[in-house]
Amino acid sequence: MDVHVRDAVEADLPAVLEIYNQSIPGGWSTADTAPVTVAERVEWFRKFDPKRRPLWVAEVDGRIVGWIGLTSFYGGRPAYDATAEVSTYIAKDFQKKGLGGKLKRLMIAQCPRLGVTTMLSMYFDHNPATHRLNTALGFEKVGHLTEIATINGRKYGLIIAALRIPPSE
Ligand SMILES: CC(C)(COP(=O)(O)OP(=O)(O)OC[C@H]1O[C@@H](n2cnc3c(N)ncnc32)[C@H](O)[C@@H]1OP(=O)(O)O)[C@@H](O)C(=O)NCCC(=O)NCCS
Repeated sequence: MDVHVRDAVEADLPAVLEIYNQSIPGGWSTADTAPVTVAERVEWFRKFDPKRRPLWVAEVDGRIVGWIGLTSFYGGRPAYDATAEVSTYIAKDFQKKGLGGKLKRLMIAQCPRLGVTTMLSMYFDHNPATHRLNTALGFEKVGHLTEIATINGRKYGLIIAALRIPPSE
């Protein structure tokens, strides 16, 4: 599969959100319970910064089929500058083809340039794909907030996993 990864531009936002919205009905990826709109997410998009907190899209044959982004932790308080939360979403028909792993590996490799020494991944404790992928990449479970989310009337927990990345020399 020939995958082209590039920084997202605002015109990509509908495609980015279409992929995100695909994951909502499953109830195991995000705490959003209804589809989000471009208008609701423009501000979110504008906080990304290719130099520190990138949002990348992955294209196959010119179609956006996945994305990965880093967001600041805890509202971006300065003491957490070197910590970022990662989010990865792959279009349903492109899942389980190694794309999520590829994007995460690429992002981890860029962390020294981005000034990120701790990458956090927060995911529901019933999300096996993310758990499997993170474990393979060396993330360590550092927290488990049990029964913190209610989806379709059921309680679920949130795992917090961290990957330490040595800073650049
Ligand atoms: C989680 C996600 C990003 C993984 O990306 P992907 O491209 O499908 O994953 P990969 O093909 O790189 O596979 C990574 C590992 O996860 C496993 N995996 C993928 N989907 C799985 C599933 N539905 N159930 C169990 N394991 C799964 C793969 O087998 C692989 O493990 P292995 O290398 O030991 O075989 C993708 O499934 C996705 O977008 N899911 C919906 C959104 C989501 O949950 N995002 C994370 C929010 S915190």
